[in-house]
Amino acid sequence: MGGNLSTPSTFILLGFGNDFELRILLFALFLAIYALSLVGNLLIVLLVAVDQHLHKPMYFFLVNLSGLETCYISTILPRMLVSFLTGDRSISIKGCITQYYFFGFLACTECYLLAMMSYDRYLAICKPLHYPTIMSGRLCLQLAFTSWMCGLVTNTIITSFLGQLTFCGPNEIDDFFCDVYPLANLSCSNTRLVKLATLILGFMGIGSPFLLTLASYVCIICTILRIKSRAAQQKAFATCSSHLIVVTLFFLSLFLVYVVPETEKLKELHKIFSFFYTIFTPMLNPLIYSLRNREVKEALFKFVRIFL
Ligand SMILES: *[C@@H]1O[C@H](CO)[C@@H](O)[C@H](O)[C@H]1NC(C)=O
Repeated sequence: MGGNLSTPSTFILLGFGNDFELRILLFALFLAIYALSLVGNLLIVLLVAVDQHLHKPMYFFLVNLSGLETCYISTILPRMLVSFLTGDRSISIKGCITQYYFFGFLACTECYLLAMMSYDRYLAICKPLHYPTIMSGRLCLQLAFTSWMCGLVTNTIITSFLGQLTFCGPNEIDDFFCDVYPLANLSCSNTRLVKLATLILGFMGIGSPFLLTLASYVCIICTILRIKSRAAQQKAFATCSSHLIVVTLFFLSLFLVYVVPETEKLKELHKIFSFFYTIFTPMLNPLIYSLRNREVKEALFKFVRIFL
């Protein structure tokens, strides 16, 4: 690490190392992941747009989520692909903070959207008689809009704290994207305020949607367990199982990265878990929905039959 005290103009994202063969291998792998995720998410948007059976609140949220994930994965992957190809691992300080701004904003919005989707599932399963009247088109729009606003406000505040930090020397980030704690740790300003703000806003941005999701699923599972007939039980569970898988993966990996303290031993594991919620979920969501959800599967078959 350079010991000079002049302001660095760029950061180095150490990522996955600088071995040429590994870089080429990772380039191919990540390019495939990126392509799969773009195609999958756009396909979901297309299917819901053309298929009348999918014009339901659940799929309105799913489309919004797919749109979000397309942007979300694009805040990290394209830069990574270029750096695998060229070996250039530097990123300007402004670029780094900008990347964090969009990444954090979209990640937080994703948490809220997932929570809104579980609220939708809660109403559909626990309050089936009132569901059509409560979950109107207007409420859907309002819930989605609220999610985007919460993400935007939370992360604009965190980023404005981050933007005031000065950097004067160490510039290596042992990660593959710019995240708030590694960035703050490089600063020579007092970072107490940034870290406190991140903790509080992080709780609001991730913790509260998590609790909302948890509460919804506790009610959903209690309701499902009370259903007498086994077939009806399975049918009710089938309508929320895809979402449950997606939510569990996303929140679990966020929890493992941000709540479990980072020790030397866990460092590499941290990188793998952050890979989960940054890159893996946007690829996995459309797969889970198109493989597990009967309605999406049927729409997909219909769609394919038209073109083949
Ligand atoms: C999601 O919904 C919100 C609120 O209705 C809207 O502002 C936003 O553009 C939508 N985003 C995507 C990607 O569909």
